[in-house]
Amino acid sequence: MNKLAIYLSTLSLTAVGLTAPRAAEVEFLHWWTSKGEQHAMDVLTQHLEKHDIQLAPKPVLGGGGDSAMTVLQARALAGNPPSFAQIEGPSIRAWDAIGILHDMNSVAKAHQWDATLYPLSQQINQSANGYVALPLTLHRLNWLWVNHQLLSELNQPVPTTWQAMFTVMEQAKAQGINPLAVGEQPWQIAQLFENLVIATGGVDFYTRAMVDLDPGSIDSDTLRAALAQFRRLSLLIDNTLPNTRWDTATKALASNQALFQLGGDWILGDLVAKGVEVPNQIGCYPAPESDDVFLYNMDSLIFMVSKSFTKDQANHVANVLADPEFQAQFNLRKGSIPVRTDIALTDFNPCQIKAYQAFKKGVAQNKAVPSMIDSMAVNPVAQQAINSEIFRFYRNKSLTEERLIKRIIAIAESH
Ligand code: BGC
Repeated sequence: MNKLAIYLSTLSLTAVGLTAPRAAEVEFLHWWTSKGEQHAMDVLTQHLEKHDIQLAPKPVLGGGGDSAMTVLQARALAGNPPSFAQIEGPSIRAWDAIGILHDMNSVAKAHQWDATLYPLSQQINQSANGYVALPLTLHRLNWLWVNHQLLSELNQPVPTTWQAMFTVMEQAKAQGINPLAVGEQPWQIAQLFENLVIATGGVDFYTRAMVDLDPGSIDSDTLRAALAQFRRLSLLIDNTLPNTRWDTATKALASNQALFQLGGDWILGDLVAKGVEVPNQIGCYPAPESDDVFLYNMDSLIFMVSKSFTKDQANHVANVLADPEFQAQFNLRKGSIPVRTDIALTDFNPCQIKAYQAFKKGVAQNKAVPSMIDSMAVNPVAQQAINSEIFRFYRNKSLTEERLIKRIIAIAESH
């Protein structure tokens, strides 16, 4: 059992639910609150309604899910878990280890997950108890979103190296254009950093340093080189209002107030929901020097044991949400790609088709890697601590690389 599981297992999970949902309602805890995310949520709500399932959504503000995970833990501690919840990566197994999840094995059988899910989806959603979560979206994170009008005003091509990226961003800044729309929250700043680590050291180095948290790779010249680039970036970007959300940054990009945004394809979902033409007006390109890399996260759903949510109810809801047509429609609006092999992408946006091709290539070349920004790669407790340190370094220009390296190693050793 990993440290997170041990931590969670200390929580009392047996107390009686305090505000259990009405029998006919199922509660869903998630962090899909931007415009594009809400469009995807509408698909989910309507699909459940068609099957006579009333949804009581419990959105928790805060992209990346840090706040939602805190609420989930608090509710589990109070013995009042939601019926089902959005979740990512290794934390699925940690929640399963404390015996609070309904397994999904009969759903998996009915929907032939062993044959239809990508191996990656199979692996992420299984524990020793078989399938314990239902996979829903596969997001590509190493995207550079480009405002074509502003870029053409600068008379520059789309940058494919960080050197070129810095040159065009510096030029933009000199001409009074915001070079990069940045959400000022730890997980988003950590995302800038992970892109620089991949560009500097490649995927194998990134995996050793930021996924395996290997001290020798963290305390290395390669990581120092990535940090030097990161410092350069932090000096170039004006610290705008603290706590800016990622979708506020996307608004700036969409309304010609910013040249670039780096980030996951939930940005696509938001742009499309706002009526922006993608890829004409805002284009999607691999983040510099990561063309052949597929940096991903996957949203899954866990179904939680409680007096008000029996195994039969869980199976019923999960069966409805495992429907491939629903999964297609949800991903279409979410900006992501489906987690199964048998969904045609015919109506999907060209950026989603590009993501799918990058996924196939990334898997074939061993260059599909989990993002470090949320609980996809590292357990959430360690990850939040690392993100905070990276954020502190980014905001406080007087902090040194050596200090950050020491801090990350200390977190790695204590988890
Ligand atoms: C989730 C996405 C979500 C994004 C921004 C990520 O952690 O995987 O589904 O759109 O956060 O809220």
